[in-house]
Amino acid sequence: MKKVLVFVLVLAMAAMAFVGCTQNNASKIGATIYRFDDNFMSYVRQNMTAFGEQLELELDIQDSQNDQAKQGEQVELFLSQGVGSLAINLVDPQAASTIIKLAKEEDVPVVFYNKEPDQADMQSYDKCWYVGTNSAQSGIIQGEMIAAAWAANPEWDRNGDGVMQYVMLKGEPGHPDAEARTTFSIQAVTEAGIQVEELAIDTAMWDTQQANDKMAAWYSKFGEQIEFVVCNNDGMAIGVINALQSEGYFDGDKFMPVVGVDAIPEALDLIESGKLVGTVLNDALNQAKATVELAANAAKGMEDPTEGTSWTLDEKKAVRVDYVGILLENIDVAKECYGLK
Ligand code: GAL
Ligand code: CA
Repeated sequence: MKKVLVFVLVLAMAAMAFVGCTQNNASKIGATIYRFDDNFMSYVRQNMTAFGEQLELELDIQDSQNDQAKQGEQVELFLSQGVGSLAINLVDPQAASTIIKLAKEEDVPVVFYNKEPDQADMQSYDKCWYVGTNSAQSGIIQGEMIAAAWAANPEWDRNGDGVMQYVMLKGEPGHPDAEARTTFSIQAVTEAGIQVEELAIDTAMWDTQQANDKMAAWYSKFGEQIEFVVCNNDGMAIGVINALQSEGYFDGDKFMPVVGVDAIPEALDLIESGKLVGTVLNDALNQAKATVELAANAAKGMEDPTEGTSWTLDEKKAVRVDYVGILLENIDVAKECYGLK
């Protein structure tokens, strides 16, 4: 009898040790960012780190270096370390299924952020959510801003044909933000009754240097025919402005209207110096806050990770933070978000 008892005890202890080593740690969160050198994402990262500290989480943020395979390995490592949840900024928005498969096997919840997965993927796992924006909203706000500025500055129609000749710099093709901004910005311009002609469109992958090079090439091809430059983000708008400055723009009367999205501090400086017409605030602070709060709640096993927070989920299991149009007159709104005020 005694022997049996000892045996049962030993078995129980072994089972506890086993559970102990695979049990997930509710305060440990594994996060990825698709590229640390993305302008906007670097602000999201800073804010995530700050909120992680505030909530006393063990938040590990890894750089996926624009490599989806690398991100898969990072996720595997997080899971082997027993993280309570994952916060994933995909490299490839189409790759959510591979991340979900890994997480599901270990029953670990996932909060995707910034790159919205397909609905089919989102619905394939009850323990996954999304934090981001309504992509179309940024395009509409940007388009309305372009239309208002164009109407207020008739001299921008350089050739006087009543048509806005523009070039468009797109973010990463297939990225929901890039696609929606490209479509909805121009749609809002034409809906405001302005005729447009697209001289050129190309991707510069959200990147300042690539945008600089594309703009330089377009300028040598189209020169003064270009009347407006529309950019899917500020990183690219900065590159465009650099290229135009090399052509003598923003000095004296030589001016070209350029718009972006994100309202990163560098872009706010350009609005203040009169080189950027406007931008659209992509709220890095609140997206980071929602991501960290949801990931922390999910790690505790909460069925609805928005419980006790100020966020609400839409029918696509997503928290969407509003965009805000930013011009010189309301620049403080963006400064506050980036902690500059
Ligand atoms: C967008 C942002 C871009 C870039 C991209 C990365 O929301 O406007 O600048 O950061 O996310 O996925
Ligand atoms: Ca014209």
